[in-house]
Amino acid sequence: MNPSGLAVRPGAPDDEDSVVAANLAMALETEDLVLNAEVLRRGVRRALSAPPDCRYFIAQPAAGGDPVGQLMVTREWSDWRDAWVWWIQSVYVWPAHRGKGVYRRLYAAVLAEAAAAGVPVVRLYVDTRNTSAQATYAALGMDGGHYQVFEATLPAPVGPGT
Ligand SMILES: CC(C)(COP(=O)(O)OP(=O)(O)OC[C@H]1O[C@@H](n2cnc3c(N)ncnc32)[C@H](O)[C@@H]1OP(=O)(O)O)[C@@H](O)C(=O)NCCC(=O)NCCS
Repeated sequence: MNPSGLAVRPGAPDDEDSVVAANLAMALETEDLVLNAEVLRRGVRRALSAPPDCRYFIAQPAAGGDPVGQLMVTREWSDWRDAWVWWIQSVYVWPAHRGKGVYRRLYAAVLAEAAAAGVPVVRLYVDTRNTSAQATYAALGMDGGHYQVFEATLPAPVGPGT
């Protein structure tokens, strides 16, 4: 699709099915992970109803039709900057629509909103093996050289009510 025929709009509760499908496909493709669909659906549902803490951006043909790409933005407080920093997550463009500027449009929409909101930095993390996405982010001017991400996975809570 020609990018000029593309619209980027905020995610809404009606996007739940397509966003769940995109996240399942993305995890499998990029990390060989089969996500728990029930947990994912709950997480997506909350994300679609929880602005401004998390928001989806959906790319779709301007004339209507199924979504062709998505990303989610969350925010994190930076005491160093006395400001919210935005994080991009859950980036996915359906394979048939890749290489046509869909992500470029999504990213431009995020940057425009971030600038208008006075956000000083937009960040994302990407699997070290995902060299294709890394090349995309670098091509659009992001700098991947500064940090590595470290994480601890905690045991799932057990007991009544969990
Ligand atoms: C990575 C991904 C989001 C890129 O989306 P896309 O819509 O195809 O990207 P765009 O067409 O907007 O490309 C933007 C720029 O990135 C570069 N680029 C895109 N794909 C690239 C690739 N595979 N290799 C190198 N550069 C690439 C190009 O320079 C392009 O600029 P151009 O339009 O001037 O040529 C998409 O391939 C995807 O969904 N991949 C699977 C999921 C994934 O990896 N998600 C990221 C998890 S962190």
